[in-house]
Amino acid sequence: MARTLITGGLVVTASDEFHAEVLLDGERIAALAAPGSQDWTADRVIDAAGKYVIPGGVDAHTHMELPFGGTFASDTFETGTRAAAWGGTTTIVDFAVQPKGEALRVGLDAWHAKADGNCAIDYAFHMIMSDVNESTLREMPGLVEQGVTSFKLFMAYPGVFYSDDGQILRAMQQAGDTGGLIMTHAENGIAIDVLVEQALARGDTDPRHHGEVRRALLEAEATHRAIQLARVAEAPLYVVHVSAEEAVAELTAARDQGLPVFGETCPQYLFLSADNLAEPGFEGAKYVCSTPLRPKEHQAALWRGLRTDDLQVVSTDHCPFCFTGQKELGRGDFSKIPNGLPGVENRMDLLHQAVLDGHISRRRWIEIACAAPARMFGLHPRKGTIAPGADADVVIYDPHAVQTLSAETHHMNVDYSAYEGRTVTGQVETVLSRGEVVIDRRTYVGRAGHGRFVPRATFQYPG
Ligand code: URP
Ligand code: ZN
Ligand code: ZN
Ligand code: ZN
Repeated sequence: MARTLITGGLVVTASDEFHAEVLLDGERIAALAAPGSQDWTADRVIDAAGKYVIPGGVDAHTHMELPFGGTFASDTFETGTRAAAWGGTTTIVDFAVQPKGEALRVGLDAWHAKADGNCAIDYAFHMIMSDVNESTLREMPGLVEQGVTSFKLFMAYPGVFYSDDGQILRAMQQAGDTGGLIMTHAENGIAIDVLVEQALARGDTDPRHHGEVRRALLEAEATHRAIQLARVAEAPLYVVHVSAEEAVAELTAARDQGLPVFGETCPQYLFLSADNLAEPGFEGAKYVCSTPLRPKEHQAALWRGLRTDDLQVVSTDHCPFCFTGQKELGRGDFSKIPNGLPGVENRMDLLHQAVLDGHISRRRWIEIACAAPARMFGLHPRKGTIAPGADADVVIYDPHAVQTLSAETHHMNVDYSAYEGRTVTGQVETVLSRGEVVIDRRTYVGRAGHGRFVPRATFQYPG
């Protein structure tokens, strides 16, 4: 078993910052010690002087190869996990999809078939329930036993992934009984579909109308409803991709009452806005996702929520569609633009920039990008921290390197960058996944098939 010694770096975790030597033994972190205090020998020494030594990122929301709007998200597990590694993420939790009318098991098997043997980094699955009924409810405990311990329900997309309130309540009751965690896509899809139809009838077909019809109030309303349903079911709740200030207020109010309610936001809501959706010449299609990008004024509430722990996690909702041939399906009808943005490679860097911009502290960066998602989704203590016994998923991060984000240089399998031309300070230098070097001083040296499926523990509250 190879031993690796990382010297000279500043170790940053969600709780501490200290200069230390970090010894990796095989797949695990073996020990940390004060610089120069030990005579450790190792097969490989990594000099991290002037750099941070941080836990590998945990991206709890990705969609590799997701079927959507008659096409498929353009990153495979092979290309998407490689891009994740380039961006300092060493674990993803992707969403397996139950095909409507079939068993959850069928969706889970399909996702294993896509991912197994193809990933550069470790991966786990949530389950999207497209069809809550007696039979799928009965399947939930079996999935939990296999380490698929969270279930996403959609209050949006009627006729596709949508569940009604009764279905959501039943799934929450079942999850509460088995230790599963219900995640909701909280938008009132029934009302939104009416507004979509009316907009199209008026001739409002451009991408910016996607943002306008998916009203912030309808996100807040669904968030409120999901919280009350979870309360009735006495189950915890995790709301994905929160974008509206009014939705943050609902989560904050619930948490102030002591309810086990949690929220995630994504870099696109923190760094992009409805202005991007309004870019001329159908460029706005590049920014179509749901929940939608909001007017800039919403961003302050998201940053505040991340500081006050009313939002706990930043995931990417990585769901790339190429502009050419995929986003273009919605020319002349915004409702036909496949929903989703690329970003799995950009999250750690954008959030580091947020540290420099004074939005969050360095430790909070690691909390929201590594530690909190690991705890929330049953990956702690293996993932999300630098500690003896944890998986040796370690990133050497250069906080001074300046880079310009661009489709020319990124590694995601998509023909545009949502952050084209944006300059950020901070860059991943070296990445280890369970002790194996995947990125070596900005060269990819990993391999498809190194990444393993990680069965997750059940949700613990308080955790
Ligand atoms: O627009 C998005 N977010 N696409 C992915 C599916 C989802 O709702 O998370
Ligand atoms: Zn230092
Ligand atoms: Zn969603
Ligand atoms: Zn998603």
